[in-house]
Amino acid sequence: MGCRALIVLAVALLSGILFHTPGIAQSRSFRLGVPDVIAETGFLQYLLPRFSLKTGIRIEIVGDTAPSELRLSDGASGRAVFSGLGKTWVLTTPDEPNEHAVRFRDWLTGDIGRRTVDAFEANGKQVFTAALKQEDDSGPVLLSGDAVRGEQLAVLHCGRCHMVNEATRLSTIGSSPSFAVMRSFTDWQMRFEAFFALNPHPAFTLIEGVTEPFDISRPSPIVPVEMTLEDLDAILAFVSRIPPADLGAPIQYQ
Ligand code: HEC
Repeated sequence: MGCRALIVLAVALLSGILFHTPGIAQSRSFRLGVPDVIAETGFLQYLLPRFSLKTGIRIEIVGDTAPSELRLSDGASGRAVFSGLGKTWVLTTPDEPNEHAVRFRDWLTGDIGRRTVDAFEANGKQVFTAALKQEDDSGPVLLSGDAVRGEQLAVLHCGRCHMVNEATRLSTIGSSPSFAVMRSFTDWQMRFEAFFALNPHPAFTLIEGVTEPFDISRPSPIVPVEMTLEDLDAILAFVSRIPPADLGAPIQYQ
């Protein structure tokens, strides 16, 4: 129970941060009923913030017998999402599905969610295995969002170092991979969603309402990249439309 309280706190803290971002409404939340055995693995602290950060949707963890908009169980029917701890786990929705709960279910059974499930480890070992891909979600995903604005923002903020498009070919620094090369990684979306937490970016990146201000004793070494989560969303929409570099051929981008 103490563990569950911690999870609620962690998710609440994260969403508290998110809700200070303009444009994300308070009502974007739903309750997820989870059995204790799953809650105790630490899996939810790993999984849920990744979804909430991307969507601004807050998930409140409740016990598996409490009223909820989405329920995880080892029942016989529902959408299979992963196996682990000797069981297959399914998600069920009540008769009137909640749109945020459905979005979470689709995210969890899509490419990103399934990779996130597989990547979770406890004591150095994989705990859960994502269910097989659903037949209906095939093909590359073009993310919604303002891709045109995303390209402009990427040129402005990332083009100092990365080759974002042809126009930034000459102005970039050699040690940064081009966007086309990074787009060819199967987990490109996860990397871009979290870029601000991945080196070298934390030293110079500020995302409104998400990152902490720089330590006074360690100011940004370069003109900081300052942006919002909405800007990042637009950049993701742009990147989803970049044709991946063919890594089989000699790389022409660097
Ligand atoms: C000051 C230079 C600089 C700027 C500005 C910059 N990056 Fe980077 N970025 C790098 C370097 C260098 C690497 C390679 C790090 C490595 O290989 O360890 C990198 C790596 C990445 C990666 C891969 C990270 C990983 O660990 O897989 C992503 C994604 C990325 N950048 C996205 C962005 C986005 C989006 C922006 C703009 C909003 C941006 N970067 C701005 C220098 C920069």
